[in-house]
Amino acid sequence: MEYSAKVMDHFMNPRNVGEIEDASGVGTVGNAKCGDIMKVYLKIENGIIEDAKFKTFGCGAAVATSSMATELVKGKTIKEALEITNKAVMEALDGLPPVKVHCSCLAEEALHAALWDYAEKNNIVIEGLEKPVNDIEELHNLPEE
Ligand code: FES
Repeated sequence: MEYSAKVMDHFMNPRNVGEIEDASGVGTVGNAKCGDIMKVYLKIENGIIEDAKFKTFGCGAAVATSSMATELVKGKTIKEALEITNKAVMEALDGLPPVKVHCSCLAEEALHAALWDYAEKNNIVIEGLEKPVNDIEELHNLPEE
């Protein structure tokens, strides 16, 4: 299995590892199949994602995609954050091997879960955001391995 230099870099030196104590939103999503879990913390001020951190108990691709997803989301509006799909994260990492594509779904879903938590805490509706799943195996459009 071949990993791109960017994936290796974000796996070896992950950005934004940790937690945000007074996070505006926190999301946790797991994958029952492999047992991996990802937790994303967002600090949102005036509709802008000021900071993002993560903790991932999972494979190298899950660590690399959480690292890249948190990098991409920083400084974005909530609407722009919704455009950070697993495909966008994979592209930013110069691709992932096909068997590892589902790991990038964990990053997208954890991001959505943190935004959902933020929306619930603030009694707002984020247009285009669907209720996140706890386990990505529940997603119907999960890419085939
Ligand atoms: Fe579980 Fe990668 S193998 S997220």
